[in-house]
Amino acid sequence: MGSITIRQLDDDLKHRLRLRAARHGRSMEDEARTILRDAASEETAPAARQPAAARRPTPQPQSPRPTETADHLKRVLLIVGGGIAAYKSLDLIRRLQERGVAVRCVLTGAARHFITTLSAGALAGERVFTDLFDADTEFDVGHIRLARETDLVLVAPATADLMAKMATGAADDLASAVLLATARPVLIAPAMNPRMWSHPATRRNLATLLEDGVIVVGPNAGEMAEQGEAGLGRMAEPLEIVAAALPVLSAHPGKLLAGKSVLVTSGPTHESIDPVRYIANRSSGKQGHAIAAAAAQAGAEVTLVSGPVALPDPPGVNTVKVETAQEMLAAVNQSLPVDVGIFAAAVADWRVEKAGTNKMKKQAGRPPKLALSENPDILATVAHRTRGRPALVIGFAAETERITEHAKAKLARKGCDWIVANDVSESTGVMGGDSNAVHLITKDGVESWPPQSKQEVARALVRRIANALAETGR
Ligand code: C5P
Repeated sequence: MGSITIRQLDDDLKHRLRLRAARHGRSMEDEARTILRDAASEETAPAARQPAAARRPTPQPQSPRPTETADHLKRVLLIVGGGIAAYKSLDLIRRLQERGVAVRCVLTGAARHFITTLSAGALAGERVFTDLFDADTEFDVGHIRLARETDLVLVAPATADLMAKMATGAADDLASAVLLATARPVLIAPAMNPRMWSHPATRRNLATLLEDGVIVVGPNAGEMAEQGEAGLGRMAEPLEIVAAALPVLSAHPGKLLAGKSVLVTSGPTHESIDPVRYIANRSSGKQGHAIAAAAAQAGAEVTLVSGPVALPDPPGVNTVKVETAQEMLAAVNQSLPVDVGIFAAAVADWRVEKAGTNKMKKQAGRPPKLALSENPDILATVAHRTRGRPALVIGFAAETERITEHAKAKLARKGCDWIVANDVSESTGVMGGDSNAVHLITKDGVESWPPQSKQEVARALVRRIANALAETGR
């Protein structure tokens, strides 16, 4: 029996087939098969003789797996990297499907040493993609289509090599090309040997990926596959990955804060001693900037009042740059009224009462005595406004001990609605680092969030804000 090849179809037919396949979330090959199958069943079924408008689609055999991508069905493109944890990705397919998520798989070359396309395909209920160029089947793999026809790209396990490729924008195989081509959210579940995870190169790559907005779940600490090896590097469990994926799938980031205005303060302040010296602190501004970026991505009109930081201005955000606490307060007042005020800046508590206009000269044996005066408390000032107070005022509390206890006291003292408290002891690496473990203190109590990237904290906070505004009808 002769075989039909898609390449032999005329261009117009090929184009129409491609569109139809894309609409149904199928490969062109599968779409052609479906058309042929439908045509064959119409030949035998009496309904085939009815006019086209009266025909119902041919019923497909019932499958417990959500392989058809109906409009409401969420789709995940699961990229499986080459690591021993790849076997857990098979379970992950099931766990996602149980929650009504359709899963399409891409296996890297290395992944195929650990699991087979047959097992992944059988579970996913559709063809597994492996190669950028698939000459055997004359099939249009279409990495752009794979990148687009999904609600989330999930990389599990994300090996050190895949992370390096993502961080540098390499695109020499199907997985990396899809990751470079996608505009959808990307969630990775790293898995590697603890030494590889702690290597400076991987730390650099992770920082780049977080900066690029990639969401990271895990890795967890525990025993490694290699005998006698233990530490941070085990892939997060499938249910943990599902828990990280579902909020991304359920959120419509473009809409959560549409029509709302948000003010964010971020970074440290610099308080002049003289024209060359200043008092500062170790705040990097990463958390505040991530919040501004997440709020903008969620559709809010965002003003970011930023102290001196070494970060790029977040896209789509009106960034106002200031140096001192007094300048920050003035810029904040200028930005009001807003719906939500988030005060993440590490404002210096004191400034030098009389900063020198000329550089202070060293005088042997007589160090200068700097008289300090207290800076305005920007958060408390805004929270206590009777007119023009934002509907939701959120402060931050960087603590090194008795975190929630101090944060609760701060909530009352500052008059804000929520406090996001975190442990900034040196051992946590939060100051200047990329991850954060925060407690959200509201009038209803304390919620402790799991350690996650600052971007994830920002997105979770945005979701909480959107819910709070919706609940109060604002
Ligand atoms: O009092 P403390 O500095 O611990 O409070 C931290 C919270 O108060 C943060 O939200 C910070 O942005 C805000 N703050 C402020 N102005 C100050 C001091 C702190 O807005 N002068």
